[in-house]
Amino acid sequence: MRVTISEIKEMKQKKEKIPMLTAYDYITAKIVDEVGVPLILVGDSLGMVILGYESTIPVTMAEMLHHTKAVVRGTKKPLVIGDMPFMTYQASVADALYNAARFIQEGGAQAVKLEGGEIVAEVVRRLTACGIPVMGHIGLTPQSIYQLGGFKVQGKSPQAAQRLLKDACILEEAGAFAIVLECVPAPLSKLITQRISIPTIGIGAGPDCDGQVQVISDILGLYTDFVPKHTKQYAKLADEMRSAIADYVAEVKSVSFPTMKQSYTMDESLLTSLST
Ligand code: KIV
Repeated sequence: MRVTISEIKEMKQKKEKIPMLTAYDYITAKIVDEVGVPLILVGDSLGMVILGYESTIPVTMAEMLHHTKAVVRGTKKPLVIGDMPFMTYQASVADALYNAARFIQEGGAQAVKLEGGEIVAEVVRRLTACGIPVMGHIGLTPQSIYQLGGFKVQGKSPQAAQRLLKDACILEEAGAFAIVLECVPAPLSKLITQRISIPTIGIGAGPDCDGQVQVISDILGLYTDFVPKHTKQYAKLADEMRSAIADYVAEVKSVSFPTMKQSYTMDESLLTSLST
């Protein structure tokens, strides 16, 4: 049985911090599950860190479903959340229902995440009423970077802070089971976390959120095109991969790989009877 949204909400009540990570493929998701991470987000960040787009905006439903299925196949225990791509839920409630249902039915996810506050409240209300758990996402919402003017910290003025607090309360009232706070000043995240009863999951939002989410390739030191201030590299896998690949190339060139240890044997006398 996978982790449920009730268990995630209970973790807040028990003051148990909630770790969450992104994953985009079978092998990584399997390891994340083995370590015991309760929430996996198949983030549309895959557009940047896996597919090489400049932002998350070009990401499609087809791409998201492809990766969601792989993550679901690789996991048994965590709750898998599919991230709804740009313009798959904003144009109408009907669009949102159709696309969210695809994450659950085709992708095998147990919940979806979507960006925005009051503007998506009706969508959150309808999805949750129809049985689809929704995680909200406010603060820096990367699908709105053109409107926001770039990847910037949000909620620094009293008006912007008030807006974020109001959006968090509206998402809770609409039925979201948790809310991602991205690039929100730590004191404001603390206040929002105290004011709502559902968990806040921070990324660049300070230590007082109920949980934390990170992009897996950031914490593993695998994606180095841009290293956000809010991340911490727990490994330097890009360096390790470069060195392993260079060793392989050198050994192939010098014929020190493969040896007989990596080769298969046979009775060579059988070869004498072969004609060309
Ligand atoms: O797409 C993503 O990975 C996200 C997280 C950064 C929260 O939305």
